[in-house]
Amino acid sequence: MQTLLATLLLAATATAARNLTFPDGFLFGTVSASYQVEGAWNLSGKGENIWDRLIHTRPDCIADRDNADVAADSYHKYKEDVQLIKNIGFNYYRFSIAWPRILPKGDLSVINQAGIDYYNNLINELLANGIFPVVTIFHWDLPQYLQDLGGMMNSIIVDYFEDYARLLFTHFGDRVKWWITFNEPYTILYGYRSQCFAPGLLVCGVGEYLVIHNLLKAHARAYHLYDDEFRSTQKGKIGMALGTTMADPKTQSPADIEAAELYQQFTLNWMAHPVYSKKGDYPDIVKERVYNKSMAEGLRRSRLPKFSEYWVNYIRGTHDFYGMNYYSSNLVSAPNSTTNSSVISLENDMGNPVVGNDPSWIVGPNPDFAYSPKDMRKVLNWVWKNYDGVDILITENGWSDHGTLNDDMRVRYFANYMAGILDAIHLDNITVLGHSAWSIVDTFEWATGYTVRFGLHHVDFNSPNRTRVAKESTKYFADIIKNRTVPAKYLD
Ligand code: NOJ
Repeated sequence: MQTLLATLLLAATATAARNLTFPDGFLFGTVSASYQVEGAWNLSGKGENIWDRLIHTRPDCIADRDNADVAADSYHKYKEDVQLIKNIGFNYYRFSIAWPRILPKGDLSVINQAGIDYYNNLINELLANGIFPVVTIFHWDLPQYLQDLGGMMNSIIVDYFEDYARLLFTHFGDRVKWWITFNEPYTILYGYRSQCFAPGLLVCGVGEYLVIHNLLKAHARAYHLYDDEFRSTQKGKIGMALGTTMADPKTQSPADIEAAELYQQFTLNWMAHPVYSKKGDYPDIVKERVYNKSMAEGLRRSRLPKFSEYWVNYIRGTHDFYGMNYYSSNLVSAPNSTTNSSVISLENDMGNPVVGNDPSWIVGPNPDFAYSPKDMRKVLNWVWKNYDGVDILITENGWSDHGTLNDDMRVRYFANYMAGILDAIHLDNITVLGHSAWSIVDTFEWATGYTVRFGLHHVDFNSPNRTRVAKESTKYFADIIKNRTVPAKYLD
């Protein structure tokens, strides 16, 4: 009995001691992305993008065979969205610019003034309501014309991206102080190994490496451009948003530990290391593995292209913050007879691990987004340690369900993940600048269409008005933003 009392007392003290208060200056934001909310796919001069093409030619790729032609219609309803953001009290709104809405062909041959006007209006509306913009330059909706030229596998994308970024800095940089070049480089790669993710190419094990090689150069170009021509007058920050995973080994066996480490290397570090590490370039382990496999396949050179010394130095350090998209972790173990395969692919390069969820995590409608709140602190530590104490902005975090208004699970998710952020801040002295809740309204969720919902507001996609209704989680955010504390009642 006495031991039980002592344990309860200890647990109570531990909870009481947990600092659940956000430090001064911590920022609260919410997010969307152009293709997922805007609609107006062919209005006012917008060009076709690779998702328009995929969806219109392969409707079977989307779970509900629906499309994003209208989506949440934020193109027309942006003022209403701004009011929803304001009602909750968010400090900022992270949204993305649709490249083909500004440049219908992707290059500078046609500049669409209606597109520039749209984003000017949105930015001005936000600022007039006390909300600042955080702008993603590229959230996957590549102009189809550039795709026809080879898209991200063609190195000319580096020049096109720089031209596009210059246009954005020129038109919006007087008011936009936070820029994100690319959203989730790793997820972009699904489009190079699956026919149901745009651009829908099957070029596994080669295409992915070309894409990231060009993407990193394009990112660095935009960063240096900002430094050379805009930073001194505009005084903003620029970074990338990386889909950040935590690979937990299933057991403590050396084989599982190695599998988890390789998974972390090939799904995150490979793309972040060239920019965020002190050393720069791709990690040695990734270079070695792809080179050795390429030689064994009879190739004359590695499928992973090489950066010259010039590019290593040019790319290294091109960031003002690390944008972290974190939803859930992966439980990783050594390959088994089902995963093992000799097909040339990124999975093969990383050793064909078995990837799943820990039985203690709660799994929602999409198993890729399990509830793993304890890893929030762990993943922040991983990034902080590997990338030299970089300032971190949580650029996405969120929970999906089938669209209920009483979204208790979403509240539980946010409360416990945000408590993890606070542990990292207070116990580990990690600099976390803010948290962005994905998403302000229900969105078109790529290949899963409208079957899963992440929004803080429900959207009726069957009504021509795309009616928005606040979910319970909006109250949670209004409360934590006002009181700057995560209420202990929500904690596991
Ligand atoms: C990350 C992506 O950036 C976003 O587009 C997507 O909707 C969310 N994850 C949820 O899957």
